Amino acid sequence: MTAQLIKGAEVAAHIREELKKGIAELKAKHNVVPGLVTVLVGADPASQVYVGAKEKTSKELGIYSERYDLPEQTTQKELIALIDKLNKNPKIHGILVQLPLPKHLNEGEVLYTIDPKKDVDGFHPVNVGKLMIGEPDYVPCTPAGIQQLLIRSGTKIEGAEVVVVGRSNIVGKPIANILLQKRDGANATVTVCHTRTRDMAFHTRRADILIVAAGKPKAITADMVKEGVVVIDVGVNEIGKTAEGKRILCGDVDFDAVKEKAKAITPVPGGVGPMTITMLMMNTVRAAKLAAGIA
Ligand code: GUN
Repeated sequence: MTAQLIKGAEVAAHIREELKKGIAELKAKHNVVPGLVTVLVGADPASQVYVGAKEKTSKELGIYSERYDLPEQTTQKELIALIDKLNKNPKIHGILVQLPLPKHLNEGEVLYTIDPKKDVDGFHPVNVGKLMIGEPDYVPCTPAGIQQLLIRSGTKIEGAEVVVVGRSNIVGKPIANILLQKRDGANATVTVCHTRTRDMAFHTRRADILIVAAGKPKAITADMVKEGVVVIDVGVNEIGKTAEGKRILCGDVDFDAVKEKAKAITPVPGGVGPMTITMLMMNTVRAAKLAAGIA
């Protein structure tokens, strides 16, 4: 079997068209322009690429955008002061502080400072809690994108054995939580594996749907999956550069081998990545609507 490719880039483009129309309508009917601010501390090259893409997509869709690029030495106090200011700015509906932050900063306190109503990442403990009890305002963007890819590729989630590899707060824990909710597009039986899991392959071989956010290139090999599995690869690993200096990327799954056994699989790049930014835009529109009382 050669897998169907789950093309996140195409699904994302489709959703963005819908969003663009919705944003234009929001302006025409309610005079509301969604506003998103991105805050980047330091000069991590990958983070710069991600923040640049978020800013570009905002502009393409008609979202008002502001961007703060702060020096590496920014203090906790300075960052908190900026977030306080943005919390009060009525033009801004969504605040995104790009992670990871430099080591000297306290990430938990920073995320706690963002007004939960403007927390379009869904990382504030209030929003984490709301997701946990099945009443989310904002679903974190990468897991929200994964769920959309599963739904829109026609994958049966209800009753499926879902195995998640990785237990981060950004991907592993929230996607496990989302897919076990008692609602459409969920109702799965979910197992979460991590670095201390005794026999990883025992679990991954049982998966109908395998979601991999391990942060390790090609960690999942063909012998670790069963025939007919649907694979969502969240990993983005740079494994070299072309002669022209372009980054060569691979996921956390050995794509070439696993695609021969899988029913469907996401490519890297062009799989989960484009969905993440699209879900951020969707959350920003939702934040603007909630603020205007029209959600
Ligand atoms: N770093 C990697 N992914 C994310 C994300 O979804 N949001 C933020 N704020 N930082 C990230």
